[in-house]
Amino acid sequence: MIDGDLEPKYILGGGSNVLFEEDYDGLIVRNAIEGIAILGEDTTEVCLEVGAGVIWQNLVEWCLDRDFGGIENLSLIPGTVGAAPIQNIGAYGVEFESVFDSLDALSTVDGTERSFSKEECEFSYRQSIFKSALKGKYIITKVRLKLTRKDHPLVLDYGQVSQELDHKGIVSPSIQDVSQVICQIRRSKLPDPSVTGNAGSFFKNPVVQKAKYLSLQQDYPEIPGYMVGQDLCKIPAAWMIEKCGWKGYRSGDVGVYPRHALVLVNYGSATGSEIRQLSDCIKKSVREKFGISIDPEVNIV
Ligand code: EPU
Repeated sequence: MIDGDLEPKYILGGGSNVLFEEDYDGLIVRNAIEGIAILGEDTTEVCLEVGAGVIWQNLVEWCLDRDFGGIENLSLIPGTVGAAPIQNIGAYGVEFESVFDSLDALSTVDGTERSFSKEECEFSYRQSIFKSALKGKYIITKVRLKLTRKDHPLVLDYGQVSQELDHKGIVSPSIQDVSQVICQIRRSKLPDPSVTGNAGSFFKNPVVQKAKYLSLQQDYPEIPGYMVGQDLCKIPAAWMIEKCGWKGYRSGDVGVYPRHALVLVNYGSATGSEIRQLSDCIKKSVREKFGISIDPEVNIV
């Protein structure tokens, strides 16, 4: 049980999506629960139970080796398996919730254990109940996933994925091919956090009314946007940040990655609060230029 005194506590996974603004005055608990087990399988599906401290990419590779499909598009996302449901991690047209079955968690308030079904996790775009109503209230211990064993339904229609497969002459891609192409795209655009400090996308892509998007299109005919249902449109924050002139910006050791405007980087000794200040300036200029508010995707502590 973790309770017992009033010392503030922070539960860390891999730490790859967290920005500490200053030294943390309390106890940091790093989740190191290991293990990948097959709970059940038939000819079409397999159910895995995975310790929350397992490195996400290790799970992806473990599944690719066994030809278990469903998370190949989530290749090379940094962090742990326990962080995946908190963020509802997503990339290249797939979100974690699509393979999620259920999870076990420990209450930080009274130490009791409980399970959460998919509905109870309240997943949405980079969001779950663990980032909202139950923030800090549970430590995720085990995550169960349902993956395919054959006839894997591939998601290839995001960005350059199918283009890159075509380019390689791959007509009927396997999940391993898809993973390889996605790793290649990610490596070409995103900095490796073990080399250059970064937390991936710093902001979420804002979702605006279709009418707002159409009015921006009058001024910026090339503005990208993806319809979300009938009335809403998701605009890449990276595009707006680049238009505001931030891409490649650097001041001291803080900057905006030259190959992707959504990624803020620490070139060495920048402090958390310097990164936060840069993010505030970027947010302000996007609001002034486009009238749209962009919100952090990273967890700021
Ligand atoms: N773009 C620019 N300038 C840039 C980069 C991108 O204008 O410097 C524009 C382009 O129009 C491009 C569009 O933004 O087509 C989208 O860019 P990209 O495909 O790189 O994706 P993203 O929307 O910036 C999201 C996720 C990423 C995920 C990719 C691929 C969010 C907040 N981010 O980024 O996730 O890898 O899609 O699926 O939804 C993360 O969450 O940390 C993360 C890296």
